[in-house]
Amino acid sequence: MVAVNESNIIRRSGRMLQRLVRCYFLFALFATLGTLPIAVARKQNPLANEPQAAKVGEFQFRSNCAFCHGLGARGGGRGPDLTRAQKRHGNSDPDLFRTINEGVPGTAMPPNGATQQGVGMTETEIWQVITYIRSVQLKAPAQPLGDAAHGKQLFFGAAACSTCHMIEGKGGRLGPDLSTTGSARATDYLVDSVRYPSRRLAQGISEAMKEFSQEYETVKVETADGQKFTGVVLNEDHFTVQMMDEREQLHLFEKDKLRWYEKSRESLMPAYDQKMLNDKDLQDILAFLLNVGAR
Ligand code: HEC
Ligand code: HEC
Repeated sequence: MVAVNESNIIRRSGRMLQRLVRCYFLFALFATLGTLPIAVARKQNPLANEPQAAKVGEFQFRSNCAFCHGLGARGGGRGPDLTRAQKRHGNSDPDLFRTINEGVPGTAMPPNGATQQGVGMTETEIWQVITYIRSVQLKAPAQPLGDAAHGKQLFFGAAACSTCHMIEGKGGRLGPDLSTTGSARATDYLVDSVRYPSRRLAQGISEAMKEFSQEYETVKVETADGQKFTGVVLNEDHFTVQMMDEREQLHLFEKDKLRWYEKSRESLMPAYDQKMLNDKDLQDILAFLLNVGAR
């Protein structure tokens, strides 16, 4: 009897031990299963290089992000060009995920769900957007362009950019503040802006100190008493126009009181050809603008 009892007890406790072990394994399995997908998802994009995901992501991007980052993610004036290989807040998949999900506090970059629609993107949708960004991202990091220190000298010196443009509080105000332009615009856009200013007037920028109707259109007026002014349009409605003239004086005119009033898309910025600014110097200035923008 005693022997049977003992073996019974041994058998029972053996079974219990087995069960405990099984339980433990199941628990461990569930624990890993539970955490694994999230851990993996935070590491790399499960939808990487999937053309269909890029397509859906592009659609998401157009409705949630293009307003600031521009169509094609090439920078829209309010938000930076996202096609650059180097990103300020990190360029790994988890970095991008975090930036898009949490936003960049203290800047216009909103956290997920804070856009006009107020509907957040799901994790899958965020990955789709990232797949899209990757699909338009330049493959190689941009070449270290030029000599930023020399570019700065040119900007505030020989090239006279600062007579019309401000950078970090220094310079003129006839043209847009260029402090964030280096990051907000694609490089070929910047080159175009300098070589052929009238091709595409600055637009879509938000500047703390100014309120712009649409673009930096040029305006010429002659007042009833014969004074002539040339400048950029700051604000305009049917009856009035507010402008800044070339000497940075602000004017508000009633249109029907003007002798002459003409608006044009001919930029007030001189076109810098090779003679005024050779390619090397232009690259140096761009390096300076990118440097400022990257800070
Ligand atoms: C209201 C404007 C706005 C909207 C909308 C917006 N962004 Fe941004 N975003 C910004 C600004 C401004 C920055 C730059 C923040 C800074 O100063 O570093 C930024 C930064 C980023 C960065 C980091 C870039 C880097 O160099 O590290 C990523 C990535 C990004 N945005 C993606 C998105 C995506 C994807 C969406 C849409 C889901 C979106 N943004 C919507 C304004 C916006
Ligand atoms: C006489 C004034 C003047 C000078 C000098 C000048 N600019 Fe401009 N710039 C403007 C005005 C006005 C605009 C807005 C209209 C336009 O886009 O052409 C502008 C626009 C720009 C833009 C486009 C910004 C954007 O976000 O679209 C860039 C970039 C720029 N200038 C760079 C430069 C550089 C670099 C220099 C020096 C090599 C320079 N500018 C010299 C007046 C000037």
